[in-house]
Amino acid sequence: MRAMSLPMIIVHGGAGNWKDERIPVGMEYVEKAARAGFGVFEKEGSALDAAEACTVFMESCGQLNAGLGARANLDGVRELDAMIVDGETLSFGSVAAVCDIQNPVSLARYIMEKTDYAFFAGNNANRIYQQMISEGYREEREPGVIKPHFEVFGADTVGCVAVDSKGNIAATSSTGGISKKLPGRVGDSPVMGAGAFANEICGATATGWGENIMRVTLTRMAVLYVEQGIDLQKAAEKAMDLFETKTGSEAGLVMADKDGRWSKATNAKAMPTSVIAEDLGNISSYTK
Ligand code: GLY
Repeated sequence: MRAMSLPMIIVHGGAGNWKDERIPVGMEYVEKAARAGFGVFEKEGSALDAAEACTVFMESCGQLNAGLGARANLDGVRELDAMIVDGETLSFGSVAAVCDIQNPVSLARYIMEKTDYAFFAGNNANRIYQQMISEGYREEREPGVIKPHFEVFGADTVGCVAVDSKGNIAATSSTGGISKKLPGRVGDSPVMGAGAFANEICGATATGWGENIMRVTLTRMAVLYVEQGIDLQKAAEKAMDLFETKTGSEAGLVMADKDGRWSKATNAKAMPTSVIAEDLGNISSYTK
């Protein structure tokens, strides 16, 4: 557990069996994403603003498994899942299996903030997207063309946890899902308490095999451990121990609390991660 000053942001680019030559690329893009998110704080943005900006960067960079860089499903279609969570209000917005948009995290935020609902899937999520664009909530961005995806075996999701100067926490997750997924398959990333969770105390976002992350509600468990008085690093490790014991699978998670402490844990080969906090001056980055 590392104590930081506020505001702060912690970002990951997916846990998995990264090819060695892809790890520096992952590191480069999570560092850029952390800067994109932290830059919003410098303009008085909130935790939600920073988390959205950071995730939009990762979705738009085309180098990570989200947004433009997302894997295609077995039909050759990019089906995206994403979520944003507001720890202050315990609200979330999610989209699942949504196609032809570049930044599903912004649509998830629109759903959370501007509708009476929390979760939309498939074609009907695109109708909400059109509503979002026509209302001017966000500008339309090209969905991009599908390119053969670089190999990032198992490196499956991007996400971040941001804490603003008031101690409000936001968490995100965004993904194209697992390799060779069947059309319509949805993983953990848009599921509250599985792919991400945040409340007024702590936030967490996860990456890994979604079916297994949902079985143990990985991010909810990690935050619950903190609520029970366990320190942040031990909480991340305990949640990962539970995950590995129950599922025998690979995953990772990053966490941050209202005071800017943060932690991470993974049992995968690599999970490019980057942190920026007010008093850090420079970015801190980790491959695992
Ligand atoms: N963790 C992303 C997925 O399983 O879809």
